[in-house]
Amino acid sequence: MAFKPSKGKKEIKDPLANTPLNNIFNGVVDLKEQPIPEGRHLLEVDDLHMFFHTKDGVVKAVNGVSYTLDRGETLGVVGESGSGKSVTAMTIMGLIDMPPGKIEGGDVLYRGRSLLTMSEREMQGVRGNDIAMIFQDPMTALNPVYRVGDQLGESLRIHRGYSKKDAVDRATELLRMVGIPNAEQRVREYPHEFSGGMRQRAMIAMALACDPDILIADEPTTALDVTIQAQIIELMQEMQEQNGNAIIMITHDLGVVADIADKIMVMYAGNPVEFGTADDIFYNPIHPYTWGLMRSIPEQVTDEKKPLTPIKGNPPSLVTLPKGCSFSPRCPYATDLCRNEPPKTYTLPDGHYSKCHYALDPDFVKDRAPENSRSYSGGAPRKVVDEPAGAPVASMAKDAPTAEVTGAAHTNPDDSASA
Ligand SMILES: Nc1ncnc2c1ncn2[C@@H]1O[C@H](COP(=O)(O)OP(=O)(O)O)[C@@H](O)[C@H]1O
Ligand code: SF4
Ligand SMILES: [Mg+2]
Repeated sequence: MAFKPSKGKKEIKDPLANTPLNNIFNGVVDLKEQPIPEGRHLLEVDDLHMFFHTKDGVVKAVNGVSYTLDRGETLGVVGESGSGKSVTAMTIMGLIDMPPGKIEGGDVLYRGRSLLTMSEREMQGVRGNDIAMIFQDPMTALNPVYRVGDQLGESLRIHRGYSKKDAVDRATELLRMVGIPNAEQRVREYPHEFSGGMRQRAMIAMALACDPDILIADEPTTALDVTIQAQIIELMQEMQEQNGNAIIMITHDLGVVADIADKIMVMYAGNPVEFGTADDIFYNPIHPYTWGLMRSIPEQVTDEKKPLTPIKGNPPSLVTLPKGCSFSPRCPYATDLCRNEPPKTYTLPDGHYSKCHYALDPDFVKDRAPENSRSYSGGAPRKVVDEPAGAPVASMAKDAPTAEVTGAAHTNPDDSASA
């Protein structure tokens, strides 16, 4: 049992600890106590598609998201506003209203079990207890008419069978842990009596209450000042060290996840366009959109003294996506191939993948990736991209030999780089 009160504080007995009912409450199995089946991951998101069917058309908000996550790992999900980051997380949590939402394909497996086929009752057992989410807007999660302490204690009472008094004691302790002064008094107050930063902390306390296996933090620091941002990230990391939980950190700012993510998924227009380890993304980024994000990271993260260059233009409407690569209207390297055919996913042997026609062309990458992808955190040399045998690859070189195409719809472009 990962329940650990902080040192010197009264130990509150977890009524479910060490009992035969340890992993069953209200007839629902606590999945985080179940072993992960061999060969499976803690969380597997597999080609997930979730569209909104609205009167204005079909919004392709989650359009083929795939990743795996294991215990103790932190995944950074990065992309501009409207790229589908929150909706992906809410789909995993079963929090999207269906309709207008509809799962169009793919699956989400938690400890080997599909979350998409679970009943609402089972999902209630998962939410808050196995997978908890810190929402972008604290008021989404905090109910204005209940005391903060009662809201914090509620999940402990529902999922863990705490008495009312023990739940309030534990709520007080959680508020203290997230750095809220006067926790004994604050626990009896209402959300409107908290400042914005304190509400955010209360919500983090709420998400941590049941030691979730997976903590999804949706832009948890956007509204906070830099010092509090750092404290909150540190707190989440401490909890992770103690409990071994996984974290999904959602942000529009690649810099926020630079020091904390093990893996990073870069999203554009509902689609993951690049996925890899943090080293892959910072030392060897292979997608032009990732390069654009890197060029807009403030210099304290990259050591680069150049001015920030935001990506020109706006993301496309998710109702009428461009015909070819969804980034092509804004990509400085777009070719006719890009404008006419959507790129497939090109995966390197180590699992690093990119949805760009030229992802596996070393010259394309070498000549165009930003300098700061080599200078981040001490300047590790950029790896040379090896072209895996038989992998489909487009080349920007005019006279490049036709690449062997395996299962890809496109042929080699004969158009040359326009940039
Ligand atoms: N209930 C809804 N109905 C229709 N479209 C929605 C709904 N919720 C979100 N969207 C759309 O889904 C897209 C992705 O949104 P979101 O995941 O919130 O973006 P991000 O978190 O990356 O900023 C946006 O275009 C948004 O307008
Ligand atoms: S496929 Fe073409 S338009 Fe899309 S990111 Fe790659 S180079 Fe740019
Ligand atoms: Mg969002």
